[in-house]
Amino acid sequence: MRPDVERMIGESPVFLRTLEQVSLVAPLEKPVLIVGERGTGKELIASRLHFLSNRWESHFLKMNCAAISESIMESELFGHEAGAFTGATKTHHGRFERAHGGTLFLDELATTSMLVQEKLLRVIEYGEFERVGGNKTLNCDVRLIAATNQDLPRLADEGRFRADLLDRLAFDVLTLPPLREREEDILLLAEHFAINMAKELDRELFAGFSGDVQDQLINYDWPGNVRELKNVVERCVYRTEPEDEVAEVIFDPFTSPWRPGAYENGGPGQPTVSAELPVDLKEHIKVTEINLIDNALEHAKHNQRKAADLLGLTYHQFRGYVKKYNLVGGNADEE
Ligand SMILES: Nc1ncnc2c1ncn2[C@@H]1O[C@H](COP(=O)(O)OP(=O)(O)OP(=O)(O)O)[C@@H](O)[C@H]1O
Ligand SMILES: [Mg+2]
Repeated sequence: MRPDVERMIGESPVFLRTLEQVSLVAPLEKPVLIVGERGTGKELIASRLHFLSNRWESHFLKMNCAAISESIMESELFGHEAGAFTGATKTHHGRFERAHGGTLFLDELATTSMLVQEKLLRVIEYGEFERVGGNKTLNCDVRLIAATNQDLPRLADEGRFRADLLDRLAFDVLTLPPLREREEDILLLAEHFAINMAKELDRELFAGFSGDVQDQLINYDWPGNVRELKNVVERCVYRTEPEDEVAEVIFDPFTSPWRPGAYENGGPGQPTVSAELPVDLKEHIKVTEINLIDNALEHAKHNQRKAADLLGLTYHQFRGYVKKYNLVGGNADEE
């Protein structure tokens, strides 16, 4: 019997359309590329693709390309022969060999070197490869699923990703919607994570979110998407007494008047309106801008659109500042 595919929560039209696309593409023997901002559920979708495919009884192997140094990437993927390099005492079977008959999920694919990309192209095209240090050509039957949060066509235009590999991989592309475009799903997911957290804490029930907290969750921008929501909700739940409803939400756990650096240049949240001369004008303007943005974010309960309004900026101008100064806990670099 096919195991239950891990439940994915969501009822918004964009999310349901994505799931439909997953069901359609899953049974095909073709590579799939999953694209999405961080925390949007790429890994969950990859395993769904495998378990809805005809390979579901065979292996599902994963490899995070960003977590493996370039020097060992090749041998991790394709294996090596004994004696291929110092320390290679035994034959090593790579991910492609071990995934034979099943699915291999390559996460954060954009970080692979050109050499590895060339070899990937060959294995996708012909199912052929050699172990590092070997001259025997091996064959494998592996379905490849890759994920990235980068804009691969742009990287290909800039010569930083092989365009021919992109063509092969992108038989179909699943682009996962960011949470801020799935407003209907926010409270569903929040409730789901809260109930699980309450169980984990051996609590009998979860008493719910106050109306104000629900509004804040819906209005927040969620730059870290579902993973961020999960963290925020779990933090709220454990900080609230078991029988109370959650009445306070902390989006940024680093928020503190004692955060290192908070006192530099006049303290947090204090718009600097005057300064004694001589003054470093650029630094002064920077500090003033950061303070005003922090203030606006706090007033807007971390809703970036509202904060932009408070500063008379468009949302895009506001995001420009957030990026420039790496604000919002460094979260703002992936839009
Ligand atoms: N629709 C969903 N229903 C339930 N849980 C979800 C859903 N989408 C994502 N999650 C949960 O959110 C977290 C992040 O998901 P996942 O690791 O798949 O995202 P990702 O896109 O691979 O993130 P990253 O880019 O950071 O690697 C996981 O804990 C996952 O279980
Ligand atoms: Mg991931």
